[in-house]
Amino acid sequence: MARQRVAVLISGGGSNLQALIDHAAGSHYEIVLTLSNEPTAFGLERARRDGIATRTVCHRDFADRPSFEHEIDECLREARPDLICLAGFMRILTPAFVGRWRDRLLNIHPALLPAFRGLHTHERALAAGVRVHGCTVHLVRPELDDGPVVTQGVVPVLAGDDAQALAARVLEVEHRCYPLAVDGLAAGALRVRDGLVVGDAQRLVLHPSLVGH
Ligand code: GRF
Repeated sequence: MARQRVAVLISGGGSNLQALIDHAAGSHYEIVLTLSNEPTAFGLERARRDGIATRTVCHRDFADRPSFEHEIDECLREARPDLICLAGFMRILTPAFVGRWRDRLLNIHPALLPAFRGLHTHERALAAGVRVHGCTVHLVRPELDDGPVVTQGVVPVLAGDDAQALAARVLEVEHRCYPLAVDGLAAGALRVRDGLVVGDAQRLVLHPSLVGH
């Protein structure tokens, strides 16, 4: 079976993009495009190093959100992705865009949804005193950080954690969750049914420090 074509949308460092690149060999997906809204995003460099096509669509060059998204759509239509991964893409997408790519558009959020939607998730997790935190790969729906869960990664919150330490621990499981989710969907081992993602592929990642507890 041909590998599924994946486009990755970024705005910054692209460590999740790197994880997707690193796991592509031997998987059911290939990355055919990396698109950034920030011309200086380091993730573009990561893609180039791997020989992946890159495009920059800078939101500041467009009068409004629909025209910015129209240009992104053009790039995506050329690249013909089966799946589109938002990986630290820091622009809110309109319901029209989300609807056009429904069930093919994925996001990774640094919290265990539906807890802590939005920004500053690690600070808010610490302020709430939760004992576990993590990340969620989900299908994108028009509401911010909403949609069927594909994979979640769980980390402990440890005494003495600050937001930076917690973020670094969450990022470790992010880098395992995103390739797992994309490969599961690309292989057909995960499917959308009645508004939920179902299937046999592993959908929970535990931080190594939780294993054996
Ligand atoms: C990650 O924490 C991701 O969950 C969030 O943005 C961050 C992107 O990091 N959506 P990177 O650019 O992949 O390193």
